[in-house]
Amino acid sequence: MKHITIAIDGPAAAGKGTLSRRLAETYGFHHLDTGLTYRATAKALIDAGLPFDSEAIAEKMALEVNLAGLDRSVLARHEIGEAASKIAVMPAVRRALVEAQRAFSRKAPGTVLDGRDIGTVVCPDAIVKLYVTASPEVRARRRYDEIIASGKAADFDAIVDDVKTRDDRDMNRADSPLKPAEDAHLLDTSEMSIEAAFLAAKRIVDAALNKN
Ligand code: DC
Repeated sequence: MKHITIAIDGPAAAGKGTLSRRLAETYGFHHLDTGLTYRATAKALIDAGLPFDSEAIAEKMALEVNLAGLDRSVLARHEIGEAASKIAVMPAVRRALVEAQRAFSRKAPGTVLDGRDIGTVVCPDAIVKLYVTASPEVRARRRYDEIIASGKAADFDAIVDDVKTRDDRDMNRADSPLKPAEDAHLLDTSEMSIEAAFLAAKRIVDAALNKN
């Protein structure tokens, strides 16, 4: 049987994670947030006190990442995200993690993978591809509200700068830059609630599943 994969890409804080989790729940599929694989590699380097600028060392850590043990609450730290974005430019790191991600994508009865290069590189044959985006200001506002809701202080302008810097690094790297696959459905959630974005995504996925 052909395996079913839903590929979800887009910039940081566009709402991919929430959408992907809800889609996976709806269809009974396994979900992998591939950003966590880059974060886990970065955390392993930080914990071991190793530098971020050696591709050979980062590759070794990437090969040891266990997909079963990924936990966003442990990997959410800003410092880990920054380091992840730096090692994500290294081709040897990407090769190691992409191989593990592809193996995951073949799980039955189906999978949802979200990240930056799922539709373009990791699973180009995915049955349906979504590119989820929102303006940098809207994404920064959502992140700001989350931090404030958790009782911490936040600086909105600094978050906007951070979102733009991350976009720039993700979209302009040489290996697997963030961009929509040619056959991706674009979903701009700038003006949508989470619920509206989920319903729009579900309509697109239902249509693709019914066709196949
Ligand atoms: O989505 P996130 O913030 O957890 O991702 C952390 C970093 O990992 C991000 O800056 C880009 C990188 N990444 C990537 O290059 N390819 C992916 N498929 C997922 C994440």
